[in-house]
Amino acid sequence: MPPMIKAIPCYTYFVVTYLGILASACIGWLCTLFLLLVHKLETTLRTVHAAVLQSSESKGQPQEDIEVWLRNQKSIINFSFADASKPHDTLPIRAEANENIAIAFGLINSLTTTSPSIHKSFLKTASSIINRPDRDWTALFETATSTLKTELNHVPGQSLPLAEVTRITCLTVVLVDNFNIPSPISRQSLVIITEEINNQWLKAKSSTPHSRPAASSLLNGHLSSLNLTLRSSTHVLPPEEILSIIIPQYETLWRVVLVTYLLAFHLYPSPTLPARISSVPGCLGSNSDAEKEALKLAKEGLRLTPSNKRIYRHSPTVSDHRKAKLNADLELLHRHPSIWGPSALEFNPSRFDSLTPLQTEAYLPYSLRPHRCPAFGGFGDRMVTCLVAAMGRVLGTSGAGRVSNTNDKEGQKRQVIKTARDKLEGWRYTLCK
Ligand SMILES: *[C@@H]1O[C@H](CO)[C@@H](O)[C@H](O)[C@H]1NC(C)=O
Ligand SMILES: *[C@@H]1O[C@H](CO)[C@@H](O)[C@H](O)[C@H]1NC(C)=O
Repeated sequence: MPPMIKAIPCYTYFVVTYLGILASACIGWLCTLFLLLVHKLETTLRTVHAAVLQSSESKGQPQEDIEVWLRNQKSIINFSFADASKPHDTLPIRAEANENIAIAFGLINSLTTTSPSIHKSFLKTASSIINRPDRDWTALFETATSTLKTELNHVPGQSLPLAEVTRITCLTVVLVDNFNIPSPISRQSLVIITEEINNQWLKAKSSTPHSRPAASSLLNGHLSSLNLTLRSSTHVLPPEEILSIIIPQYETLWRVVLVTYLLAFHLYPSPTLPARISSVPGCLGSNSDAEKEALKLAKEGLRLTPSNKRIYRHSPTVSDHRKAKLNADLELLHRHPSIWGPSALEFNPSRFDSLTPLQTEAYLPYSLRPHRCPAFGGFGDRMVTCLVAAMGRVLGTSGAGRVSNTNDKEGQKRQVIKTARDKLEGWRYTLCK
């Protein structure tokens, strides 16, 4: 017996110890689980808090916050963040941010130079082109419609690649408007020039200070062979000079024109659209009420798709190269719900019937002084309206054909157009049978 009596406490001891270990392991495990849960909860709360902070920073609810943010953005655009106002100080702040674009195209213009005298002479050329008193808008409109008709005949029965067609049309109109063109430009040349400009642009955007984009001899060769001269001169322009003049116009134009056409004629068809543009092209340049109504098409297009989504500056006082790059978010200024209301993302030219003071402050499609785009005084709005109306006239509205996007099936339903180049490339126009 005694050995058995002895064995019982021993057994009990083991069971108790085992249970003890098991229990403490369970408690430990529960504690760990509990701590993990607390940690998870804390992280979640932190994330939520950060998101709330971030959204009140950029999408801000209180009106003062929005006004502070707006002033801040404008001070980047107008160089007051760096206390600069004279070309000697402002040009380097801008040129550095545009350096790779300059190299890819061999540009020597106001956007890329640090020399006040080159800046001045470029502005003189640009303004003589833009402020030409004898511009015939009806002739430009007809250039656009005849180019579009040729494109439509070029791909009978198939669907039209809208990005390419818009690029060709915009480039043709810009070249005709800017230069003497001694002989008709072949479609093949227009395709190569527009594609190469696109390629060079992408290369410039993806390059770093260590890998600079090289100029395109294909692009330069095609531009040289056109033998273009300025209207007031017989000097045949080298490709770099042609690009310096056309890039700020053409490259900022075609995406706005394409997106505005899609929004106005397909995604937000409005019963007031035909009346709004019925006087185009005759009204263009007239400063009449009819023209003001028509130009709201361009104004609303430029609101949702400003030619530059962001305006980059290079801070002269910050030595760290990455931190020195600042930008103002023009796209957000133009779409902010606290500024534009709940319909901020909708295309509605009538909103320009009357803007609130805050909307007027935040609407900056041509940037600000001292480097406001020379196209600001009506030329840009007229050019966009002329080209968009031409597309509407030739391609018709949603009744005549339909549009779809092979690269962005969702995007075409959401009614907010993605403006990244690859997304724009997918838009097709198909005539209804
Ligand atoms: C630049 O913009 C800021 C913010 O709106 C403004 O306070 C300042 O007066 C502007 N500077 C100039 C020179 O216009
Ligand atoms: C451009 O000029 C060159 C040399 O004068 C000439 O050979 C060429 O045919 C011209 N090209 C066009 C498109 O006019």
